[in-house]
Amino acid sequence: MKVKTFAQSKKYTGNFLMDRTVIVVDVLRATSCIIWACRNGANRIIPVSDAGEGAAIASRLGDCIMAGERGGIKLPGFDLGNSPLEFSPEVVKGHNIVINTTNGTVALKAAEGAANVLAGAMINHSAVARKAAELGKDVIILCAGTEGEFSADDICAAGAIATSLCQYAEITSQCDLTLVARSLYKDWKEGRVDLSKSYHYSRLIDLGFAEDVDFCFQEDITDIVPCYRDGFIQPC
Ligand code: MLT
Repeated sequence: MKVKTFAQSKKYTGNFLMDRTVIVVDVLRATSCIIWACRNGANRIIPVSDAGEGAAIASRLGDCIMAGERGGIKLPGFDLGNSPLEFSPEVVKGHNIVINTTNGTVALKAAEGAANVLAGAMINHSAVARKAAELGKDVIILCAGTEGEFSADDICAAGAIATSLCQYAEITSQCDLTLVARSLYKDWKEGRVDLSKSYHYSRLIDLGFAEDVDFCFQEDITDIVPCYRDGFIQPC
């Protein structure tokens, strides 16, 4: 199996993603929210490009929770923001969720042409790696990034996923960013790297989301692997 890591989402054209498994990572916080919502019994999760598309889908579906953020803050008129702890069983069980975030849902939609699109984060890194290995295709770890830039939290989670992948599949080649991601993850895990100084991490702390950041950096607290297919996300 070949493994590549991309630092931020862009529109992939042609057959580039076809026949590959793409693991979309937005550890702070969109894929962590999606994983947690699936784990807590949400029905369908629909990532959308903007609030207008979200409103149209919500009026078609009827029962629907609207979730999303801009600049980390809940969108006006929405039910939920982008804090994983908001997606509790009491709130989401049995409900559809339309979600629109600055980078995470953009990355999911950018991956739409892939054979398989999975949502990964720190909280499910072993499970998402195991599932990707079972699917047997070459893997792209697609980091959402922040505001079009590389984001260290995503690269660290990509490293966790790539490290886990080595347990479940024979890796025949990995790109340089995958090597760097694995090394960052090892340094973080062994206490040599402090991600709290990184841009998005520190911005979330400044906005009062320290609890979210702590939650999102827990490793392997669930085996749930969300899969994005035909416009909606459900557990694989
Ligand atoms: C995003 O999609 O850009 C993020 O999940 C932002 C956030 O932390 O709310």
